[in-house]
Amino acid sequence: MHELKLESIIRVYENLQELSIADQTLVQSAKDATKQAYAPYSKFFVGAALLLESGEIITGSNQENAAYPSGLCAERVAFFSAGHQHKGKQILAVAIAVVSEEHRVAEPVIPCGACMQVMSEFQRIQQLPIRILLNGNNGKTYNCESLQTLMPLQFRL
Ligand code: THU
Repeated sequence: MHELKLESIIRVYENLQELSIADQTLVQSAKDATKQAYAPYSKFFVGAALLLESGEIITGSNQENAAYPSGLCAERVAFFSAGHQHKGKQILAVAIAVVSEEHRVAEPVIPCGACMQVMSEFQRIQQLPIRILLNGNNGKTYNCESLQTLMPLQFRL
């Protein structure tokens, strides 16, 4: 028997001004994208913004449905949209932001497991780490250098 030790490091920025201008822009794009969310059921408005190698920013927001499981998270809306409309272009980073009056969103919100799985497959296929910026309403932002920070082990076929 031996142990596998899995370690993650997250860099925590106390406010947006501590980020590079490019990262501030990406986080702001994610914040703006929350306005496109359709979340009448959860009232949890999520925005995701992807930075492509071309410099383009692709956004997504959560889209809910009265048949609850039919909805989709902001991250997957953005990633699948990039997969379809920008096939083959590398994704350098993703910023995720949340707005909600009903839920506590002061601290950065962590993506759900299904979105991590989807994002990690994009990362594996492109063979380049995707940096993740998680923004909280208190201004704090987590910077993860790759998907492995959040999900060290990935399901794959
Ligand atoms: N949601 C996201 O958009 N991203 C996540 O990572 C977690 C949850 C959405 C799904 C649903 O519309 C609402 O937030 C509440 O779960």
